[in-house]
Amino acid sequence: KNVWVPVCHESELDKPYDFRTVTISREPVIVVRGTDNQVRAFLNVCPHRGNMIENRPSGSFENGTPSGAPKHMTCMFHAWQFDVKGNCVHISRSKEGYQDRLDCKDVGLRRLRCEVKYGGFVWVTLNDKIEHSVEEWAQGSFDCMQKALDAEPLEVFHYHKAIIPCNYKLWHDTNSEFYHDYLHYHNRITGFNDSYFARQNKVFDNGHVNVGSFEVQYDNYEGFESREELSFPHLPANHWEMIDLFPGMNFNLRGSALRVDLMTPLGPDKVMIEYRGLGLKSDTPEERLTRQRHHNSIWGPFGRNLHEDL
Ligand code: FES
Ligand SMILES: [Fe+2]
Repeated sequence: KNVWVPVCHESELDKPYDFRTVTISREPVIVVRGTDNQVRAFLNVCPHRGNMIENRPSGSFENGTPSGAPKHMTCMFHAWQFDVKGNCVHISRSKEGYQDRLDCKDVGLRRLRCEVKYGGFVWVTLNDKIEHSVEEWAQGSFDCMQKALDAEPLEVFHYHKAIIPCNYKLWHDTNSEFYHDYLHYHNRITGFNDSYFARQNKVFDNGHVNVGSFEVQYDNYEGFESREELSFPHLPANHWEMIDLFPGMNFNLRGSALRVDLMTPLGPDKVMIEYRGLGLKSDTPEERLTRQRHHNSIWGPFGRNLHEDL
């Protein structure tokens, strides 16, 4: 509850009225793009009697639904309506029910702090009194890939999630730990070389970790090809940068594909991990296919490394 969480990517809310619902620490949250193109976050809870406003995982408010007015968020319990800035614009039978005791301007959706940052991720926190901006909280851990992420708009092309039996701290800890890699990879024919094992971890006060970069020798993988042509802007060809943000996010930029993991604790011994794969929004269809193949062959549900990362 006390940190910034990259709940989704701006490309998942491409147009005004597009929305995405998520949870942070089991609190329902909705992010929605306004007509001014700004992305805002609210508790997905009606201020009237606490009903959940929107049940769909994603969609658009532009066209109405059987229980919702077009261009508005409508609570299906008593049909109060809110605009996409969270203002209440309609209270059903207001005069009959409340006479002059309640006005639309007295009620609205509970706004949450929200920043779009680092390659277009939508960062939200439940903590209104958080002392740090996303940038201050990240403490320079994005320096290694910010230029690559912010050079041009990105787009999500892959999403899947997994629920695994482990404590959340173990997930973060294992992501930041490369002792096991030596044993896993050392005797295999891989694109990893001495510089892979020479990488150094840089640790930040908030618990974030940068893993040093190196050049992957894709030619040494059976069936793999160099990713030089589609390597992200400003990223040296075939290089690999990684940021582990405490407590539960991982940004993994490997040549031509960005992978971003978001971990949500579901209990003391259960975590959910959401995986997103991203490329450049400007990709041609052919470039996108190649990028997806690069991503999926390593990190897709049947990819070479995903099982080991779990
Ligand atoms: S609970 Fe939402 S309108 Fe009553
Ligand atoms: Fe590993």
